Amino acid sequence: MSTHWRWPPDANRALINIVRAERAMTRSDYCRALALAMSAHLQLPQYPSWTIDVLRRRLATILPEIDSTAIVRAMDDVEGWLTPAEAALLARATAHAIREGSGHVVEIGSFCGRSTVTMALTIKSVALDQGSRLIAIDPHEGYSDASGRDTYELLSQTLCKHNVEHIVDIIRARSTDVALDFPICMIFIDGLHDASSVCADRDYVIDHIRTGSLLAFHDYRPDFPGVVKAVQDVLLDGHFDLVGFTGSLLVVCRH
Ligand SMILES: C[S@@+](CC[C@H](N)C(=O)[O-])C[C@H]1O[C@@H](n2cnc3c(N)ncnc32)[C@H](O)[C@@H]1O
Repeated sequence: MSTHWRWPPDANRALINIVRAERAMTRSDYCRALALAMSAHLQLPQYPSWTIDVLRRRLATILPEIDSTAIVRAMDDVEGWLTPAEAALLARATAHAIREGSGHVVEIGSFCGRSTVTMALTIKSVALDQGSRLIAIDPHEGYSDASGRDTYELLSQTLCKHNVEHIVDIIRARSTDVALDFPICMIFIDGLHDASSVCADRDYVIDHIRTGSLLAFHDYRPDFPGVVKAVQDVLLDGHFDLVGFTGSLLVVCRH
């Protein structure tokens, strides 16, 4: 019996995207390079995505370093999916946003507080005197991965345990029901991951990101196609610079 190797149906398009991604890299157009390399990776999963590895290394030095060792250690006992390396990038991004711009940090999707405590401890360590706060938005109900639990109490306990409850406003609501009528220096999107939810979150907040402010997404990776779809549009819309990408945490800055 003979077996026939078949050229994967999307391979040609993937190869074109790989070449375009490499060209974008040579122009230092990192947003476009990542969007194209991710498309190629989705079309041809065997593609080892060297472009993405090179990109990660180049981006690693853009945001100023902070010592996040204690912050990352603190978040590690809180239930959730943020990895220590992603938490370190989230802390660097938060520190940069509040040092560079006046305003508050908004989180969409707090769950039990793993990312919330990371950002709150960062605000506490770098800029409490500026009055920056973390606005943590989550309905805390009906989330499948919470197995029916009400995560509001768990989030409150996490914040109290780490002495940051005075820095965080817990808003028990859906993202699109919250008026964003205050100055904002950074928004972190980690709510529901289906395409229509992530795109709704993105479209609701995007005009509140001013020049120099940051927008971050968690779970930008092939097994969350809804997040990838929402982020691709941001990467390709020409208004942002890619300033960080560790694990599946991606950070862009509006120029
Ligand atoms: C992936 S979890 C967030 C994980 C959290 N950022 C962490 O680091 O552990 C997603 C959260 O989004 C919340 N969520 C669901 N719909 C939402 C909405 N419309 N607005 C804000 N949050 C929402 C869920 O209740 C859930 O807690």
